[in-house]
Amino acid sequence: MGKKTKIFLYALAGLFLLIQIYPMEQPEVTDVNPDDLLKNVDISENVASMLKSACYDCHSNESTYPWYANIAPVKWWIYDHINQGREDLNFSVWNTLSKADQAEALDDIATAVMEGEMPLKPYPITHPKAKLSEEDKQAISDWTEILAEKLFE
Ligand code: HEC
Repeated sequence: MGKKTKIFLYALAGLFLLIQIYPMEQPEVTDVNPDDLLKNVDISENVASMLKSACYDCHSNESTYPWYANIAPVKWWIYDHINQGREDLNFSVWNTLSKADQAEALDDIATAVMEGEMPLKPYPITHPKAKLSEEDKQAISDWTEILAEKLFE
């Protein structure tokens, strides 16, 4: 190995260690969520398990962190997605939303899923259970419509 290559590699390793110090708080996790969607609405096992495995890591207070999620720079990116995801839609506080907000969220969910925008790429690559087939997407979309209708009965 040439001297320049060595210096470059040491610098890279140093930089990697240095960025680990940069503080960024891990989004909090709790499994005590009495207002959670799955505890409060009519939902089939099938759709519930799809939401759990394809959405809950970013859209609930029950995020699970793989080991690489705690290593910078990946962690900056993952924590950011979770913070942003929860801000837009947090299934853990579903029952605290107004009916109008729930209806809007259901509509957004159907659109995001049918158009393949959600789950966010490349999440399904590392979480194979989050891959949704056309049939899965349709099942989620159908469920959002049924629930939205029930809201205003
Ligand atoms: C890897 C993290 C991640 C996963 C998994 C994920 N989302 Fe998101 N979601 C985000 C982020 C970040 C945003 C906000 C930024 C954006 O719109 O791209 C968002 C925004 C949204 C929005 C609001 C904005 C819009 O596009 O209408 C909806 C609705 C949504 N997600 C639904 C879902 C559903 C349903 C699932 C599961 C099928 C899911 N998401 C899975 C990260 C994620």
